[in-house]
Amino acid sequence: MSTKAHNKASAWFDGLYQENKNSHENIPWARQAVNPLLQSYLDEEEVHQGKALVIGCGLGDDAMALAKVGYAVTAIDVSQTALDLAQARFPNTNIDFKKQDIFEYKEQFDFVFEAFTIQSLPVEFREKMVKAVANTVAKNGKLLLIAHKREAMFEGPPWPLTQEEVDLFKAEGLRELSHEIHSEASKISSVRFRVVYGRDE
Ligand SMILES: C[S@@+](CC[C@H](N)C(=O)[O-])C[C@H]1O[C@@H](n2cnc3c(N)ncnc32)[C@H](O)[C@@H]1O
Repeated sequence: MSTKAHNKASAWFDGLYQENKNSHENIPWARQAVNPLLQSYLDEEEVHQGKALVIGCGLGDDAMALAKVGYAVTAIDVSQTALDLAQARFPNTNIDFKKQDIFEYKEQFDFVFEAFTIQSLPVEFREKMVKAVANTVAKNGKLLLIAHKREAMFEGPPWPLTQEEVDLFKAEGLRELSHEIHSEASKISSVRFRVVYGRDE
C-alpha cells in the first residue's frame, strides 16, 4: 500500500465532508439514519453487551444505534470534520468519536461494524484493509460486514467487493456465522452483502 495514495484518500474524504458541512444531502453514502441492515441485525439479536467499534463512522448514525442498544461504542474515522459533525449531531451520548486510521488501529472489540469503508478505498488496499478490520475483533467477538457486491463493469469509486474478497475474512481467523445477499436499487450494484463473522480464538 502506498502511503501517498492512502493520505490522498483520507484528504479526499475530509474535503468532501468540509464541502458538505452545512447540508449533508450531497454526501453520497450519508443517509442520516441508521443502516437498515444494522438495525434489523440489532433487532434480531438479544444480547448487546461489551465494547463495539464502528469503522469509518461518517456522520455517526450507526454508532448511535449501537449505543442505544447498550454497547460502549468507539466510532473511528480518518476525517476530523466527519467526527465533529457526528459529535454535533449526537451531543448527548457517551460514544467515543475518535480520529483514527483503521490501518493503524490495534484495539479489539466484542462487536465490530463495518459498512462501505472497505469498498471506498481502491482495490490495492483490499487485503490489508480486510486484515486491519479482522484484527479489531476480540476472541468471542463478532463482525458485521455490509458491502455492495461487485457486478460487471462498475467504475469506482466506490469499488464493490467480490465474493472472493469477502471470503478473505475467513483466512483471518474468522468464522462465517451468516451470509445474506440483499437486493436494492442503487447505481453501484443491485445487491449488497450482509455477513456476520465470529472469532472463536
Ligand atoms: C463510504 S464512507 C461510509 C461511511 C459510513 N460507514 C456509512 O455507511 O455511511 C467511508 C468512511 O470511512 C472513512 N475512512 C476512509 N478511510 C478510512 C480509514 N483508513 N480509517 C478509518 N476511516 C476511514 C471516511 O472518512 C468515510 O467517513
